[in-house]
Amino acid sequence: MLEARNLSVNYGMIRAVREISFTLAKGELVSLLGANGAGKSTTLKCIAGALKAGGGSIMLDCRDITSASPEQVVRAGLATVPETRDVFPDLTVSENLMLGAYIHRRDRAGNRENLQRVHHLFPRLAEREAQAAGTLSGGEQQMLVIARALMSRPAVLLLDEPSLGLAPAIVDRIFEMIETLKRTGLTILLVEQNVNQALAVADRAYVMRLGRIVASGTADEIRATTDLTKHYLGG
Ligand SMILES: Nc1ncnc2c1ncn2[C@@H]1O[C@H](COP(=O)(O)OP(=O)(O)OP(=O)(O)O)[C@@H](O)[C@H]1O
Ligand SMILES: [Mg+2]
Repeated sequence: MLEARNLSVNYGMIRAVREISFTLAKGELVSLLGANGAGKSTTLKCIAGALKAGGGSIMLDCRDITSASPEQVVRAGLATVPETRDVFPDLTVSENLMLGAYIHRRDRAGNRENLQRVHHLFPRLAEREAQAAGTLSGGEQQMLVIARALMSRPAVLLLDEPSLGLAPAIVDRIFEMIETLKRTGLTILLVEQNVNQALAVADRAYVMRLGRIVASGTADEIRATTDLTKHYLGG
Protein backbone atom coordinates (compact mmCIF):
# COMPACT_ATOMS: atom_id res chain seq x y z
CA MET A 1 0.00 0.00 0.00
CA LEU A 2 2.83 2.38 0.93
CA GLU A 3 6.46 1.84 0.09
CA ALA A 4 9.52 4.01 0.60
CA ARG A 5 12.61 2.94 -1.28
CA ASN A 6 16.04 4.37 -0.43
CA LEU A 7 14.34 7.55 0.70
CA SER A 8 16.63 10.42 1.73
CA VAL A 9 15.69 13.87 3.03
CA ASN A 10 18.11 16.72 3.60
CA TYR A 11 17.87 20.09 5.31
CA GLY A 12 20.61 21.90 3.42
CA MET A 13 23.77 20.07 4.40
CA ILE A 14 22.05 18.11 7.16
CA ARG A 15 21.12 14.60 6.06
CA ALA A 16 18.13 13.92 8.31
CA VAL A 17 16.91 10.74 6.57
CA ARG A 18 19.40 8.43 4.89
CA GLU A 19 18.25 5.93 2.30
CA ILE A 20 15.52 4.30 4.33
CA SER A 21 13.23 1.64 2.89
CA PHE A 22 10.03 0.34 4.38
CA THR A 23 6.66 -1.06 3.34
CA LEU A 24 3.13 -1.11 4.70
CA ALA A 25 0.72 -3.73 3.44
CA LYS A 26 -2.96 -2.85 3.12
CA GLY A 27 -4.59 -2.80 6.55
CA GLU A 28 -1.32 -3.03 8.42
CA LEU A 29 -0.47 -0.93 11.47
CA VAL A 30 3.25 -0.23 11.46
CA SER A 31 5.10 1.74 14.13
CA LEU A 32 8.09 3.92 13.39
CA LEU A 33 10.15 4.23 16.56
CA GLY A 34 13.30 6.11 17.42
CA ALA A 35 14.88 8.66 19.72
CA ASN A 36 14.45 12.43 19.43
CA GLY A 37 16.03 13.63 16.21
CA ALA A 38 16.10 10.17 14.60
CA GLY A 39 14.26 11.48 11.52
CA LYS A 40 10.74 10.16 12.12
CA SER A 41 8.84 13.42 11.59
CA THR A 42 11.05 14.29 8.62
CA THR A 43 10.09 10.96 7.05
CA LEU A 44 6.38 11.61 7.55
CA LYS A 45 6.63 15.18 6.23
CA CYS A 46 8.37 13.93 3.11
CA ILE A 47 5.72 11.27 2.47
CA ALA A 48 3.03 13.92 3.00
CA GLY A 49 4.61 16.10 0.31
CA ALA A 50 5.62 18.86 2.74
CA LEU A 51 9.36 18.20 2.24
CA LYS A 52 11.16 17.27 -0.97
CA ALA A 53 12.87 13.91 -1.15
CA GLY A 54 16.64 14.20 -1.66
CA GLY A 55 16.68 10.74 -3.20
CA GLY A 56 14.71 7.53 -3.47
CA SER A 57 11.02 7.05 -4.09
CA ILE A 58 7.64 6.81 -2.38
CA MET A 59 4.87 4.67 -3.84
CA LEU A 60 1.26 4.83 -2.66
CA ASP A 61 -0.97 2.05 -3.94
CA CYS A 62 1.29 1.59 -7.00
CA ARG A 63 1.38 5.34 -7.74
CA ASP A 64 4.60 7.32 -7.52
CA ILE A 65 4.00 10.19 -5.08
CA THR A 66 7.67 11.07 -4.56
CA SER A 67 7.28 14.58 -6.02
CA ALA A 68 3.59 15.10 -5.30
CA SER A 69 2.31 18.24 -3.55
CA PRO A 70 0.58 17.91 -0.16
CA GLU A 71 -2.83 18.26 -1.82
CA GLN A 72 -2.01 15.65 -4.46
CA VAL A 73 -0.92 13.25 -1.72
CA VAL A 74 -4.23 13.73 0.12
CA ARG A 75 -6.10 13.22 -3.14
CA ALA A 76 -4.12 10.03 -3.70
CA GLY A 77 -5.54 8.73 -0.41
CA LEU A 78 -3.00 9.52 2.28
CA ALA A 79 -3.71 11.79 5.27
CA THR A 80 -1.20 12.97 7.86
CA VAL A 81 -1.65 14.07 11.45
CA PRO A 82 1.48 16.11 12.25
CA GLU A 83 3.01 16.33 15.72
CA THR A 84 2.06 20.02 15.93
CA ARG A 85 -1.61 19.16 16.48
CA ASP A 86 -2.79 22.32 14.68
CA VAL A 87 -6.45 23.14 14.90
CA PHE A 88 -7.99 26.38 13.65
CA PRO A 89 -8.67 27.75 17.14
CA ASP A 90 -11.36 30.28 16.25
CA LEU A 91 -13.33 27.86 14.10
CA THR A 92 -15.79 25.40 15.59
CA VAL A 93 -15.19 21.68 15.81
CA SER A 94 -17.54 21.14 12.85
CA GLU A 95 -15.83 23.80 10.75
CA ASN A 96 -12.45 22.23 11.47
CA LEU A 97 -13.80 18.84 10.41
CA MET A 98 -15.26 20.19 7.18
CA LEU A 99 -11.88 21.69 6.25
CA GLY A 100 -10.57 18.14 6.33
CA ALA A 101 -13.16 17.27 3.70
CA TYR A 102 -11.85 20.00 1.37
CA ILE A 103 -10.97 17.65 -1.48
CA HIS A 104 -14.52 16.25 -1.43
CA ARG A 105 -16.21 19.64 -1.03
CA ARG A 106 -18.66 19.03 -3.86
CA ASP A 107 -19.79 15.70 -2.43
CA ARG A 108 -22.09 17.03 0.30
CA ALA A 109 -23.96 13.78 0.84
CA GLY A 110 -20.73 11.81 1.10
CA ASN A 111 -19.34 14.32 3.59
CA ARG A 112 -22.46 14.16 5.74
CA GLU A 113 -22.18 10.39 5.82
CA ASN A 114 -18.50 10.52 6.64
CA LEU A 115 -19.12 13.13 9.35
CA GLN A 116 -21.56 10.73 10.99
CA ARG A 117 -18.97 7.98 10.88
CA VAL A 118 -16.39 10.30 12.45
CA HIS A 119 -18.86 11.42 15.12
CA HIS A 120 -19.54 7.78 15.89
CA LEU A 121 -15.80 7.20 16.37
CA PHE A 122 -15.40 10.38 18.44
CA PRO A 123 -18.62 10.97 20.42
CA ARG A 124 -16.86 13.72 22.37
CA LEU A 125 -16.43 15.73 19.21
CA ALA A 126 -20.07 15.22 18.28
CA GLU A 127 -21.09 16.68 21.65
CA ARG A 128 -18.82 19.67 21.07
CA GLU A 129 -19.45 20.40 17.41
CA ALA A 130 -20.29 24.08 17.98
CA GLN A 131 -17.41 24.72 20.41
CA ALA A 132 -14.40 26.77 19.28
CA ALA A 133 -11.58 24.31 18.64
CA GLY A 134 -9.10 26.46 20.57
CA THR A 135 -11.06 25.85 23.77
CA LEU A 136 -10.89 22.03 23.55
CA SER A 137 -8.61 20.14 25.93
CA GLY A 138 -5.31 18.81 24.58
CA GLY A 139 -6.73 15.31 24.22
CA GLU A 140 -9.84 16.60 22.46
CA GLN A 141 -7.69 18.64 20.07
CA GLN A 142 -5.69 15.51 19.26
CA MET A 143 -8.92 13.66 18.53
CA LEU A 144 -10.06 16.57 16.37
CA VAL A 145 -6.94 16.55 14.20
CA ILE A 146 -7.24 12.80 13.72
CA ALA A 147 -10.95 13.14 12.93
CA ARG A 148 -10.19 15.97 10.51
CA ALA A 149 -7.66 13.78 8.71
CA LEU A 150 -10.31 11.05 8.40
CA MET A 151 -12.65 13.51 6.68
CA SER A 152 -10.44 13.28 3.58
CA ARG A 153 -11.40 9.54 3.50
CA PRO A 154 -7.83 8.26 3.41
CA ALA A 155 -6.69 4.71 2.75
CA VAL A 156 -3.45 5.40 4.61
CA LEU A 157 -3.10 7.47 7.78
CA LEU A 158 0.21 8.77 9.14
CA LEU A 159 0.16 9.69 12.84
CA ASP A 160 3.05 11.64 14.37
CA GLU A 161 3.23 11.08 18.14
CA PRO A 162 -0.50 11.27 18.86
CA SER A 163 0.07 10.55 22.56
CA LEU A 164 2.62 13.31 23.13
CA GLY A 165 1.99 15.36 26.24
CA LEU A 166 -1.35 13.76 27.12
CA ALA A 167 -2.41 12.31 30.47
CA PRO A 168 -2.13 8.49 30.73
CA ALA A 169 -5.91 7.94 30.65
CA ILE A 170 -6.19 10.01 27.47
CA VAL A 171 -3.22 8.20 25.96
CA ASP A 172 -5.06 4.92 26.53
CA ARG A 173 -8.11 6.34 24.75
CA ILE A 174 -5.99 7.45 21.80
CA PHE A 175 -4.46 3.98 21.47
CA GLU A 176 -7.90 2.34 21.71
CA MET A 177 -9.07 4.65 18.96
CA ILE A 178 -6.06 3.72 16.81
CA GLU A 179 -6.97 0.05 17.22
CA THR A 180 -10.56 0.85 16.23
CA LEU A 181 -9.29 2.60 13.11
CA LYS A 182 -7.17 -0.41 12.27
CA ARG A 183 -10.25 -2.63 12.48
CA THR A 184 -11.94 -0.45 9.85
CA GLY A 185 -9.23 -1.56 7.40
CA LEU A 186 -7.20 1.64 7.43
CA THR A 187 -3.45 1.30 6.82
CA ILE A 188 -1.62 3.19 9.57
CA LEU A 189 1.95 4.38 10.08
CA LEU A 190 2.33 5.39 13.72
CA VAL A 191 5.30 7.39 14.98
CA GLU A 192 5.60 7.07 18.74
CA GLN A 193 7.99 7.58 21.66
CA ASN A 194 5.60 5.54 23.74
CA VAL A 195 7.34 2.32 22.73
CA ASN A 196 5.46 -0.26 24.74
CA GLN A 197 2.02 0.95 23.75
CA ALA A 198 3.08 1.44 20.15
CA LEU A 199 4.39 -2.13 19.95
CA ALA A 200 1.27 -3.45 21.65
CA VAL A 201 -0.96 -2.21 18.82
CA ALA A 202 1.46 -2.61 15.90
CA ASP A 203 1.74 -5.54 13.49
CA ARG A 204 5.32 -4.58 12.73
CA ALA A 205 7.76 -1.84 13.60
CA TYR A 206 10.84 -0.09 12.28
CA VAL A 207 13.41 1.54 14.54
CA MET A 208 15.23 4.64 13.29
CA ARG A 209 18.46 6.04 14.58
CA LEU A 210 20.38 9.01 13.17
CA GLY A 211 18.36 8.99 9.96
CA ARG A 212 18.67 5.27 9.28
CA ILE A 213 16.48 2.26 9.93
CA VAL A 214 18.46 0.09 12.32
CA ALA A 215 15.91 -2.61 13.13
CA SER A 216 12.64 -3.96 11.79
CA GLY A 217 10.32 -6.86 12.43
CA THR A 218 7.15 -7.88 14.19
CA ALA A 219 6.47 -6.26 17.53
CA ASP A 220 7.66 -9.44 19.27
CA GLU A 221 10.83 -9.60 17.21
CA ILE A 222 11.63 -5.98 17.95
CA ARG A 223 11.08 -6.52 21.67
CA ALA A 224 13.26 -9.62 21.65
CA THR A 225 16.12 -8.44 19.48
CA THR A 226 16.44 -4.70 19.84
CA ASP A 227 17.86 -2.89 22.78
CA LEU A 228 15.25 -0.18 22.67
CA THR A 229 16.69 1.59 25.67
CA LYS A 230 19.91 2.04 23.80
CA HIS A 231 18.11 3.53 20.81
CA TYR A 232 15.90 5.66 22.97
CA LEU A 233 18.65 7.03 25.12
CA GLY A 234 20.68 7.62 21.97
CA GLY A 235 23.57 5.44 23.20
N1 LIG B 1 13.71 22.52 9.54
C1 LIG B 1 14.85 21.90 9.86
N2 LIG B 1 16.05 22.43 9.54
C2 LIG B 1 17.21 21.80 9.85
N3 LIG B 1 17.26 20.62 10.49
C3 LIG B 1 16.12 20.05 10.84
C4 LIG B 1 14.85 20.66 10.55
N4 LIG B 1 13.86 19.85 11.03
C5 LIG B 1 14.49 18.80 11.60
N5 LIG B 1 15.83 18.92 11.48
C6 LIG B 1 16.84 17.97 11.97
O1 LIG B 1 16.61 16.72 11.34
C7 LIG B 1 16.81 15.65 12.27
C8 LIG B 1 15.58 14.78 12.35
O2 LIG B 1 14.49 15.54 12.90
P1 LIG B 1 13.03 14.95 13.07
O3 LIG B 1 12.15 16.06 13.51
O4 LIG B 1 12.67 14.23 11.85
O5 LIG B 1 13.24 13.91 14.24
P2 LIG B 1 12.19 13.03 15.02
O6 LIG B 1 12.64 11.62 14.93
O7 LIG B 1 10.81 13.35 14.60
O8 LIG B 1 12.41 13.53 16.52
P3 LIG B 1 11.36 13.80 17.72
O9 LIG B 1 11.12 12.49 18.34
O10 LIG B 1 12.11 14.72 18.62
O11 LIG B 1 10.13 14.42 17.15
C9 LIG B 1 17.19 16.32 13.58
O12 LIG B 1 18.59 16.28 13.71
C10 LIG B 1 16.69 17.73 13.44
O13 LIG B 1 17.47 18.64 14.17
MG1 LIG C 1 9.20 14.18 15.51
